[in-house]
Amino acid sequence: MSEKIRMGLVGCGKFARNFVSLFKAHPEVESVAVCDLIPERSAEYAAKFDVPVMESFEEMLKSDKINAIAIFIQRHLHGPLVIEALKAGKAVYSAVPCASHVEEIYEIEELVRKNRLCYSMGETGYYRACTIFCREKMRTGEMGDFVYGEAQYNHDQRHFHFENNQVAGIPPMLYPTHSTSMILGALDGVYVKTVAALGFEEKKLPHIFGREGQNLWNNPFSNTAMLCSLSNGGVARISENRRVAWSGPNSYISQFYGSDGAYEFSVTHHYFAHWDKDDPQKLHLDEITEQIIPKGQFEALSDPNLPQRVCNGEWFRHSSPIHNIGRIPEEYRDWPNGHDGTHHFMVDDFCRAFATGKLSPTNIWTAARFNIPGLIANQSALKGGIQLDVPDLGDPPADWEVLRLDGNR
Ligand SMILES: NC(=O)c1ccc[n+]([C@@H]2O[C@H](COP(=O)([O-])OP(=O)(O)OC[C@H]3O[C@@H](n4cnc5c(N)ncnc54)[C@H](O)[C@@H]3O)[C@@H](O)[C@H]2O)c1
Repeated sequence: MSEKIRMGLVGCGKFARNFVSLFKAHPEVESVAVCDLIPERSAEYAAKFDVPVMESFEEMLKSDKINAIAIFIQRHLHGPLVIEALKAGKAVYSAVPCASHVEEIYEIEELVRKNRLCYSMGETGYYRACTIFCREKMRTGEMGDFVYGEAQYNHDQRHFHFENNQVAGIPPMLYPTHSTSMILGALDGVYVKTVAALGFEEKKLPHIFGREGQNLWNNPFSNTAMLCSLSNGGVARISENRRVAWSGPNSYISQFYGSDGAYEFSVTHHYFAHWDKDDPQKLHLDEITEQIIPKGQFEALSDPNLPQRVCNGEWFRHSSPIHNIGRIPEEYRDWPNGHDGTHHFMVDDFCRAFATGKLSPTNIWTAARFNIPGLIANQSALKGGIQLDVPDLGDPPADWEVLRLDGNR
């Protein structure tokens, strides 16, 4: 029998509390232990989730009771811990982003490739209903050639609960994967070749954003947009906004245009346009909302208060009809599923990758393609929007199969 996962979860903060029970209940997981630099936090997790506490990340690395590490520490700190965990021979599940420095991502890739280690970045955007829809339409060829796409992650700073303003002012493009993953996640094997980005210099939160020591990065930008040229000849506009008045939902593809088919979305309504197969003059425009939004939300479409209910996140923990619920372990199939029905897939793909020796769809090569464009975009924005080349780590090794269980077929 193959080895089961013995997970060491690092970082008992706000986000990881959504994942302990998922890891514990997964059939490929034998045990879960936790640690945090702040002992009260790990003690709270121990009481709440009935898991043992280990002294530290370092103790987890030394222990043969742990064969996998889940990183849930603050967003700018992932790279070094992922590298240490891989060097210790552990499998790694990492919350987004992958890392803050291009060099760290290269090192992670090298460790994974040379030692054939399991790494998966838990990126919600890859599993969002809009991404799955566009991915399926690209794979069937119904969209033709990809031409242009727009995606954004709007998360206003006032919804964050950073304990430290020095960290709160992180450049938005150091956390780019929610939006890049929705466009690139719909396009198999496509990567960003160049970026040019512009930042919005924040005026109303000078204690968080600014060029003079307000934060660890001397970062003045609360919002940044990048224009990307893609390896398939297409163009993408990606925005990471931390100070804008919009949420409905906050991560979404607004446009995804192909030569033969195109997708558009706003708030609750999703559309798919496509040319008639027999009449080249006729364009069909179908409303595909029922395929995308949760059943309960669809039933409420005539409610004039629906946009507000969406904005309030009423269906935040609901899956879409396009989600392949049948692939999720029985153990948590009826549980609420955070970030618009994506959490279960992120955990399941990591666990299946570990168990099968295949690659998670959000493996290090994919994660690098989602992450590096943002790191370069931040440099571009700091230089006034000059166009810069984006390094690419290439495709996964040809002899390492990628799991493909998303979609509803
Ligand atoms: N949609 C998403 O995918 C999504 C949403 C929210 C958060 N996240 C990610 O989840 C991660 C955690 O976010 P959060 O809001 O829970 O942060 P948080 O600040 O609430 O928690 C982080 C915890 O990590 C602990 N920690 C830091 N370094 C450590 C170390 N070396 N050893 C042990 N513990 C350590 C801290 O003490 C803290 O308790 C972030 O990387 C964030 O990007 C992802």
